[in-house]
Amino acid sequence: MDKLILEGGCPLQGEVTISGSKNAALPILLACMLNSEEVKLQGVPDLLDIQTTVRLLQLLGCQVEQNGSALTIRAEHELHHEAPYDLVRTMRASVLCLGPLLARIGRATVALPGGCAIGSRPVDLHLSALEKMGAAFVIEGGDIKGSCPRLRGAHISFDFPTVGGTENLLMAAVLAEGETILENAAKEPEIQDLANFLNACGARIEGQGTSILRIQGVPGLQACRYTVLPDRIEAGTYLIAAAITNGDLTLRNCPVWAMDAVIYKLREMGVDIAGDAGTDSLTIRPNGEIHGVDISTQPYPGFPTDMQAQFMALMSVAQGSGLITETIFENRFMHAQELMRLGAKIKITGNSALVRGGQNLSGATVMASDLRASASLVLAGLAARGTTTIRRIYHLDRGYEHMETKLSRLGARVWREQE
Ligand code: EPZ
Repeated sequence: MDKLILEGGCPLQGEVTISGSKNAALPILLACMLNSEEVKLQGVPDLLDIQTTVRLLQLLGCQVEQNGSALTIRAEHELHHEAPYDLVRTMRASVLCLGPLLARIGRATVALPGGCAIGSRPVDLHLSALEKMGAAFVIEGGDIKGSCPRLRGAHISFDFPTVGGTENLLMAAVLAEGETILENAAKEPEIQDLANFLNACGARIEGQGTSILRIQGVPGLQACRYTVLPDRIEAGTYLIAAAITNGDLTLRNCPVWAMDAVIYKLREMGVDIAGDAGTDSLTIRPNGEIHGVDISTQPYPGFPTDMQAQFMALMSVAQGSGLITETIFENRFMHAQELMRLGAKIKITGNSALVRGGQNLSGATVMASDLRASASLVLAGLAARGTTTIRRIYHLDRGYEHMETKLSRLGARVWREQE
């Protein structure tokens, strides 16, 4: 296993280009199984989870050619229906192959994804909604075994705006018979991107960006070319990397329109950010003093849970205190203990964390526990005096493309070593 070593205290300077969104690329790649014609994707990020998804597509019978961030996917032949446990356990998003497989071949066996560091992560909302479209499921030997001769359009209302559940049902509905209505659907930009991709392939989806999606089933999809949405969470992470080092940074290829809640909170903290929703660039200037704010994670367009850990690192060095409330996942404060090893002062009570700011962080050895927790530790290491070593850095590689390379180019002293 690799570890990351950081020497803190260098203000980041320069420009960084944001990569394609992991959470848009994953469902879009799996959605290619709905299409019997060729799909050409651009802007696919080079990440562990993307490599895992490509392997899954190939195991299920797709041909995938990769040339950097450009992928060509063909799912023209009969697909296999089994997603193996050894692969699913490394990436929960594999459960998103349920919708496409049921829609395309009427069968799917996907290992039931276990829990993960941030929560139990059930998929009950996915299954109950697919059952309304005519699918039948049996949980056997740790697998979800689904079958459905022909999915039928249905009127579905989610108890919770589940991102993955909305994506699975969107994909299932595209080839179903008749109209499907998804109410209380998730509105995340990555779902909008999935819907736009499917429409580019000839699907008939309306309402993306709202909580009501209407899908008219079509007999089949056509060949298409599509560029994946840039990653708003990677972008937000680099904004905080600049803020926490009092740097001067410009982000290129940034989905500014999808970052309102994050930009608003950074400005509320006193961070100087220039840029507007009509552009794809954001510039952050040295901000002098910043102060803590209160944050409550919410479904989009509210403050994203995937930025919570990163903000906790920034609030540890801001002046004053701030209260972070995590309303989406039941165990997403694993980074707090590790941040405290670097000198942060955080008090956890239930799903709230009181962050006492004004701390001078100092380097130590810390352990990554999940993707965004590892990003939080990198950010703290950039600010901490001395050397910070972050172990189990494979968590970071799942969702951040070449992070130490991008940071080094901005003046950070960071490098990777074998454990
Ligand atoms: C997606 O996870 C993202 N992953 C997560 O990003 C993100 O944190 C999350 O959405 C919320 O925005 C991908 O897109 C690959 P949910 P997902 O279904 O689909 C509960 C990252 O760091 N729930 O909206 O799993 C669930 O337990 C990752 O990039 C049910 O109870 O999110 C959780 O508490 C982490 N039953 C809440 O809803 C269900 O059937 C949100 O889950 C489904 C979900």
